[in-house]
Amino acid sequence: MTQLSGKHILLIIGGGIAAYKALELVRLIRKADGSVDAILTRAGAEFVTPMSVTALTGAQVRTDLFDLGEEAEMGHIEASRAADLVVVAPATADLMAKLAGGLANDLASTTLLAADKPVLMAPAMNVAMWHHPATVRNLGILIADGVSFVGPGEGEMACGEFGPGRLAEPEEIFGAIIEALLPTPKPLAGARALVTSGPTHEPIDPVRYFANRSSGKQGHAIAAALAAAGAETYLVTGPVALADPPGVAVTHVQTARDMLAAVSASAKVDVAVFAAAVADWRTPDEADQKIKKGGKAKAGPPKIDLVENPDILAVVSSLSEDRPGLVIGFAAETENIISHAKAKRKRKGCDWMVANDVSPETGIMGGDRTRVHLITEAQAETWPEGTKTEIAARLVARIALALGGES
Ligand code: C5P
Repeated sequence: MTQLSGKHILLIIGGGIAAYKALELVRLIRKADGSVDAILTRAGAEFVTPMSVTALTGAQVRTDLFDLGEEAEMGHIEASRAADLVVVAPATADLMAKLAGGLANDLASTTLLAADKPVLMAPAMNVAMWHHPATVRNLGILIADGVSFVGPGEGEMACGEFGPGRLAEPEEIFGAIIEALLPTPKPLAGARALVTSGPTHEPIDPVRYFANRSSGKQGHAIAAALAAAGAETYLVTGPVALADPPGVAVTHVQTARDMLAAVSASAKVDVAVFAAAVADWRTPDEADQKIKKGGKAKAGPPKIDLVENPDILAVVSSLSEDRPGLVIGFAAETENIISHAKAKRKRKGCDWMVANDVSPETGIMGGDRTRVHLITEAQAETWPEGTKTEIAARLVARIALALGGES
């Protein structure tokens, strides 16, 4: 294997039980003909020895534990300049915080701040530390600053807790290094995509509205996956408690009518995915003031008339001019899932329907996992259960195939 031939990596090894995996990573990089220079933080040196790092990289490891002599010989600035990529594995909460805050008070953080090369971090920490608002905030800052991430994985951790925080496996970090240095062509580069996501809120009066339990997780994951596949991606989302996906142009709306307006403004796309749970009805009599118990509703609870909302999916599917090449709807069903979804595909005029079972016992609505069936004109496929992110990746792979003409 010579994938990394001529490529030089600066590896910063932070502290953590998983630091030993960094040694395997060095082996993989060198096996692929890459060269590695390593910095071992003071905490990292508690878990792997400078000697073992030096033996594997073939170059004297630099650590805060050594004197300033070696720093004079090859300073941190030169070390980062000489590298094609700076990799931090394990990236501790501390190293993430230092870089997010621009601190430079030891060799590793100084080198990171001085780096003019892409930085890839492989975080590893306790679950609670990963979920701490400070770490979440720092992650957001680092992503916005252009740092890439691999992992963390989910599973049982050395501390006995379960959840995300495990250092990605060396093979996975190696894959991320290859991707960073030799990016594969993106399958949807040059394509334009539109996604709807989340619920809509249909006002009754200034403080009350109709809504549903959609979290937006599936639609947001699809938008993120389309953008990651290189598509210029537009997301129109109802009110959700999710961050905007990176690299996606997002329009926030409240009602179905707002959603239709925003969709119409960007319907000239190659693929449109309607994952939003749009409210079917709204009241035509939205009150200007809060409806009072003793007011209009004196004779008991108010009677609320309902009218149908526009069906955005059906509207877009029936466009004669500028219809997206591929229109995909979602069918949230609680019984006879496939047959209902097949009928819905025809009725709405879309090309594909992604059908899922949203009976309360499945936990799909609002949950992180899902099980779907993909219904096309030709067939109905049942996909294995997975996270909404995994289903999004699979759907985007299928979209790429279809747009590439191999549906
Ligand atoms: O008819 P039903 O709501 O089950 O259809 C679901 C599909 O139609 C989803 O793709 C949803 O985003 C879309 N839809 C829409 N506008 C509506 C209702 C549903 O785009 N008013």
